[in-house]
Amino acid sequence: MDRLAIIGGRPLFGDIPISGAKNAAIKLMVATLLTDQSVQLSNVPDLADVRQLLRLLEQHGTHITREGDRLSLHTANIRSTEAPYDIVRKMRASFNVLGPLLAREHEAKVSLPGGCAIGARPVDLHLKALEAMGADITLDEGYVIASAKGGLHGATISFPFVSVGATEHAMLAAVLAKGTTVLENAAREPEMADLADCLNAMGAKISGAGRSTITIEGVSHLTGCQHQVLPDRIEAGAYAMAVGITGGEVTLTHGRADLLGAALASLRETGLEIEQMADGVRVKKNGERLTAVDIVTQPFPGFPTDLQALFMAMMATADGVANIKETIFENRYMHAPELARMGADIHVDGQLARVRGVDRLKGAPVMATDLRASMSLVIAGLGAEGQTMVSRLYHLDRGFEKLDQKLQNVGALVERVPDSA
Ligand code: EPZ
Repeated sequence: MDRLAIIGGRPLFGDIPISGAKNAAIKLMVATLLTDQSVQLSNVPDLADVRQLLRLLEQHGTHITREGDRLSLHTANIRSTEAPYDIVRKMRASFNVLGPLLAREHEAKVSLPGGCAIGARPVDLHLKALEAMGADITLDEGYVIASAKGGLHGATISFPFVSVGATEHAMLAAVLAKGTTVLENAAREPEMADLADCLNAMGAKISGAGRSTITIEGVSHLTGCQHQVLPDRIEAGAYAMAVGITGGEVTLTHGRADLLGAALASLRETGLEIEQMADGVRVKKNGERLTAVDIVTQPFPGFPTDLQALFMAMMATADGVANIKETIFENRYMHAPELARMGADIHVDGQLARVRGVDRLKGAPVMATDLRASMSLVIAGLGAEGQTMVSRLYHLDRGFEKLDQKLQNVGALVERVPDSA
């Protein structure tokens, strides 16, 4: 397992290109199962999660060609309606093939994804939505076995709380259902509109994506299309925070400040200068200390839970006390003890974390149990004195394209250390 060696304390200057959004790309890839024609996706990041999903699509019968950031996916026929545990357990979002398989083939057998390091993450809302559309669902030996003889039908589905995955899953199933589906209390993350734009280009009739109520009029079939994946807002937020902790001036090319939601105001409040330019987002920080700012994670447009760990790392050396409240996942503070090993002063109490800024972090060997937590350790390492060695780099490879290269290009002293070294 590779590690990342970081020598901290260098300000960052230059350009960091922002890749296509992982969490949009993987749902768009799943959507291509809905048509027997070829879908061309561009700006697809080269990430372990994308490769994992390609393995799954291939076994469903998808013909795949990849050239750079362009992916052509063509599923003329569904070869298998089964998604095995071995793949789904490694990448939760692959569970979302259930809806498209059910919509197109009227049957599917998909492994339940199981728990994960940041929380239990059940899929009950996904299953209830599919049942409301007429799916007959049973659970057997860890698999969801679903059928919809005669096809799915439209339904009004009111989610008890906001779920990104369940909203997307319901959308994916409803596009080929008979009649109209209305999703109430739907997720409003930018990835919803991106998915709906692609599905509409394939011939679907979706309106309201990006708002709380989404209406989908079912159609009988979908066609191929070309679609460009939107830029990754979490990657942009991550590099903005890297500049926050080190100082410097970086342009996040292709980045979009409007996708940051409430995080944009929080980052500016800490003292970071963030400006949307024609070619991306310019982030600037002089040598002064950042100001501590409180945040509460919320569904979009609130402060994203995927940036919480990173914000905590940045607050570790801010001036004052930052109160952080995580409301989306029940176990998303696994990075706090690792940051404490680097000298951060963090007190966690249930959903709350209180971060008292210290003058300087000190490099240390650290490891994290999930993707975003690992990135928070990278941010901390960039701001720390001496060397930080981040283990289990495979977490970062799941979601940050060319992380070491992008950081090196703006002057960071980071190096991937192969396992054998
Ligand atoms: C998506 O996960 C993202 N993953 C997550 O990013 C992100 O943190 C999360 O949305 C919130 O923004 C992908 O898009 C692949 P949810 P998802 O359904 O869809 C509970 C990353 O690092 N819930 O909005 O799984 C759930 O347990 C990842 O890139 C149920 O109880 O998130 C959580 O507490 C991590 N039952 C809350 O809802 C359900 O059926 C919100 O989860 C579904 C969800």
